[in-house]
Amino acid sequence: MENKIRVLIPEDQVSEKIKEIGAKISEDYAGKEVHLICVLKGGVFFTCELAKRITVPVSLDFMSVSSYGSGTQSSGVVKIVKDLDEPLAGKHVLIVEDIIDSGRTLSYLIEILKQRGPADIRICTLLDKPSRRVKKEVQVDYTCFSIPDEFVVGYGLDYDQKYRNLPYIGAVEV
Ligand code: IMP
Ligand code: MG
Repeated sequence: MENKIRVLIPEDQVSEKIKEIGAKISEDYAGKEVHLICVLKGGVFFTCELAKRITVPVSLDFMSVSSYGSGTQSSGVVKIVKDLDEPLAGKHVLIVEDIIDSGRTLSYLIEILKQRGPADIRICTLLDKPSRRVKKEVQVDYTCFSIPDEFVVGYGLDYDQKYRNLPYIGAVEV
């Protein structure tokens, strides 16, 4: 069954913004190396585009956590499905997320990653739904777009594993 998708943020605006955030990150990390942690699967499209816009040395690792079932509601249960390949000791870690909703996923991730001794941890997200935040202590360092409380797809984000490949951010019409 196909859903109706309305364009919320067109492709060229997403690209422009990623360029801008990439430049900002390059400035902030001048003289350092940045270790990007891509949160699978949703963060993968954003991570690739962002990494290309960062001019300081970049290393990449991937992690997969699950906090959602197949619907649009957070279960509140977060588990590591795939852990990182590399240690974090002494690294300047930048977690790259597709979207921050309740903040439960990130809050949990940060706690785990902190214990591995990185030099510092920052957070970069493509989208943020601030009105949905439950974990208020989660501080986001780089946000491309703050959006209203709508279920969105595209640019890595899925609805029942579909629509990740859309080159823009779309809202699912209900
Ligand atoms: P949180 O733990 O509630 O912050 O949820 C974070 C995760 O929920 C994201 O990484 C997404 O995988 C998923 N998610 C939250 N909102 C949306 C949405 O609007 N579309 C697609 N996935 C979403
Ligand atoms: Mg995610």
